[in-house]
Amino acid sequence: MSTTEINQDTAGQPLLRIRDLKVGFSSRDRVLPAVRGIDIELFKGEVLGIVGESGSGKSLGMLASLGLQARNAIVSGSVVFKGKELVGRPRREMRALRGAEISMIFQDPLSSLNPVMTVGDQIREALFLHNRGMSKAKATERVLELLQLVAIPQPDRRINQYPHEFSGGMRQRVMIAMAVANNPELLVADEPTTALDVTVQAQIMRMLRDLKEKLGLALILITHDLGVVAGHADRVAVIYAGLVVEEAEVRELFANPRHPYTRGLIDSIPKLTASNEKLYSIPGAPPMLGALPEGCAFHPRCGFAQDICRKAAPPVIELGRHRAACHFAESLPSWAGAGRTAEAEERGNG
Ligand SMILES: Nc1ncnc2c1ncn2[C@@H]1O[C@H](COP(=O)(O)OP(=O)(O)OP(=O)(O)O)[C@@H](O)[C@H]1O
Ligand code: SF4
Ligand SMILES: [Mg+2]
Repeated sequence: MSTTEINQDTAGQPLLRIRDLKVGFSSRDRVLPAVRGIDIELFKGEVLGIVGESGSGKSLGMLASLGLQARNAIVSGSVVFKGKELVGRPRREMRALRGAEISMIFQDPLSSLNPVMTVGDQIREALFLHNRGMSKAKATERVLELLQLVAIPQPDRRINQYPHEFSGGMRQRVMIAMAVANNPELLVADEPTTALDVTVQAQIMRMLRDLKEKLGLALILITHDLGVVAGHADRVAVIYAGLVVEEAEVRELFANPRHPYTRGLIDSIPKLTASNEKLYSIPGAPPMLGALPEGCAFHPRCGFAQDICRKAAPPVIELGRHRAACHFAESLPSWAGAGRTAEAEERGNG
């Protein structure tokens, strides 16, 4: 692990570059691999979707990147943000970075808000944490501005209310206001719409996209629903069993998925036009931690699996800016789901 500063001009360099990030947990005499290799890059102003089923390592990978892993986690690899290596950085330095330059909206907005503090006090606290000399009046002014920014009606009344007086969508807006309070350059939103109904989901996604434009943010959207990222991400990284198995520009991914798992995820998105059709789901279940199948971890669920898939882990095959970790990424047969891009985008946009 290194805390070395990368002394080079960062112009043209990604804002965030994660290389071979691994996270494991010690269990008796072995390490259980939960994240087995995340490689992603994110440029200023870009939106990257990170998609995968429950337990695939989406949250863990991003939490570990920000130094928020559990104490029993073993982290290796490299996470470079604006030229600084973050893996191995002291906790104190990571605390200073989080909430200031990088912010995260955690997966469960209900439990992330303190029920006995007013919404205004919680946002003020986020401000004071990174602006020691800020006066209370200045902080209040900024809180009102932030509540307005995330479209909370009557901010001067709402500022003194408690989280239970807000709806689920409004609480998520408060979390977003807290996350952008100190003008971060990167915002990581972990399942920002999962607990919300479809209409509110669409409003929150639109708001995140608007904020990205207004504030010049780079955004990482973590979700288990590929449909959510369709209309909102520039690029998508698909994670399976702790590994990025495919990454491409969003339209390319939907039009020409090169990994059978991605095809399964696209097929699982409800179609707008076929209300009576049975919804497809990928057969089987993701592997348990510590019980990874040999070879390609997806092989027990894959309709294209051959002998080699059961024996050898697939290499990452690069097809221009499109990468897929499948033995047959270049030769997969054509697929009936091609052309669902527009429909998925429409759904993503609500
Ligand atoms: N502190 C921990 N100790 C042991 N295992 C853990 C710990 N934290 C996470 N894991 C395991 O790591 C794996 C990845 O978890 P993670 O929370 O990243 O999944 P996820 O992709 O975010 O799923 P979801 O969509 O349900 O949020 C899971 O198998 C989880 O049980
Ligand atoms: S390597 Fe084999 S099992 Fe894995 S996704 Fe490709 S075809 Fe399926
Ligand atoms: Mg998660």
